Amino acid sequence: MIKAERLAAVLFALGAVTVSAPAAHAACDPGKPGSDLTGDEAKAVYECIAADLHKGYATGDKRWIPAEFVNDYRGWTLASGFPAAPGFHGERFLVTWVNAAGADEYLKYAEDPSIPAGTVIAKESFGVNAAGKVEKGPLFLMQKVEAGVSPQADEWYYMMVAPNGAPMAVEVVSACSDCHMGNFGHQGGLGYPVEEARISR
Ligand code: HEC
Repeated sequence: MIKAERLAAVLFALGAVTVSAPAAHAACDPGKPGSDLTGDEAKAVYECIAADLHKGYATGDKRWIPAEFVNDYRGWTLASGFPAAPGFHGERFLVTWVNAAGADEYLKYAEDPSIPAGTVIAKESFGVNAAGKVEKGPLFLMQKVEAGVSPQADEWYYMMVAPNGAPMAVEVVSACSDCHMGNFGHQGGLGYPVEEARISR
């Protein structure tokens, strides 16, 4: 079960770090609220903004975030068949990619995964507001590091890049790891896409 009070606190936190994202293309606006979109409709929105979304994330200096994660993730293995909005990550639609080191294990969606160090997971996000307009969201990243490097967060590094490409400073333990470990600690800290959206091998 998801802990409601923690969820509320974190949704607030994630909302607070949302930058006023530049509007995507008006041509991609579905014209109805995100909650009314079918999976196919959400996918059509994603396909319409996809090039622009990636271009935004890849713009500018990534500072403490390895630039190759942001430049390369579109070449990784896709784990979501369509963008789903499970209500976390600020109600945004999410598209998940996993690099070669971790794809085999992640795509099992196991209860007890053994994710190798070197795994990197990238999750793109966008929102569709009540007026039916698309808003680009951050790129969320998780990197599995060697044992002992980040024991406070179960050896995960959490990173976030704004839609305009700026690395976003977050208190990863309270803003990211608390929710991931609190709710999914039993499955390696991984939330996984909603079941209908999962691509398996
Ligand atoms: C309120 C709970 C919550 C918070 C806070 C949160 N996440 Fe997540 N995260 C989830 C859930 C639930 C999923 C799985 C849902 C999905 O991907 O469709 C997920 C998935 C992910 C994934 C894909 C890997 C996986 O777990 O399957 C990444 C990467 C990620 N989050 C990064 C972050 C980062 C970085 C932060 C902090 C800036 C963060 N998350 C904060 C709940 C949260």
